[in-house]
Amino acid sequence: MNIRVLTLFPEMFSALDHSIVKRAQDDERVMLETINFRDFSTNRHGKVDDYPYGGGAGMLLTPQPVFDAMASLPERKRRIIVMTPTGKRFSQRMAEEWANEEELVFLCGHYEGFDQRIHDQLVTDEVSLGDFVLTGGELAAMTMIDAVVRLLPDVLGASASHEDDSFSTGLLEYPHYTRPAEYKGHRVPDVLLSGNHARIEKWRREQSLKRTYERRPDLLVDAPLTEEDQHYLDSISGLSND
Ligand code: ADE
Repeated sequence: MNIRVLTLFPEMFSALDHSIVKRAQDDERVMLETINFRDFSTNRHGKVDDYPYGGGAGMLLTPQPVFDAMASLPERKRRIIVMTPTGKRFSQRMAEEWANEEELVFLCGHYEGFDQRIHDQLVTDEVSLGDFVLTGGELAAMTMIDAVVRLLPDVLGASASHEDDSFSTGLLEYPHYTRPAEYKGHRVPDVLLSGNHARIEKWRREQSLKRTYERRPDLLVDAPLTEEDQHYLDSISGLSND
């Protein structure tokens, strides 16, 4: 996969030169390129922003440097993504869809954002990380890139897997424990030491359901639930008769 990022702060993306995303780049499973669109400004001071028509606070990124930076990229079938609090909420499902693309282009805004013609003429996806406002698109882009790259084939080693990830199953993930079996008086749940795989699976499923019920009940509306799941949820919500 090719990932290109148009940004005024390319140095910030060094955060992706570590750990799993670095290995994915080293193994050529992903090619990550940053492009400073200030380099395309025809203004002799490299200016990329201007005052909004109609007045108001803040500056807007002007069309010329962004259109010219985009025109310098090889023509490809690709998504052109802009990060904005007014976008659709980013999700694991979106990351899974994007992981099938050949190329993603991220346009990182700053200040009050981009002139609307950039959105209208260039952008295919407007996406938000959540209901809060960041100072720019870079941290949001890095978050989304990380979420996509770990889903690419062979990026997570054979010992790691994303199939049980929170959200992939429609539920939050169950808790994990490693050695020692007791630490400062706190024991690992006995069931995990039992060697009984059916009991372990049942416990994990119930822990997922319980966490989701307590922390993100909104997810239960769309989660695929069995009758047994529903019975367990009824029992912890006090709805059950038994
Ligand atoms: N840029 C500023 N705020 C943002 C948010 N919440 N999500 C994505 N990009 C943003």
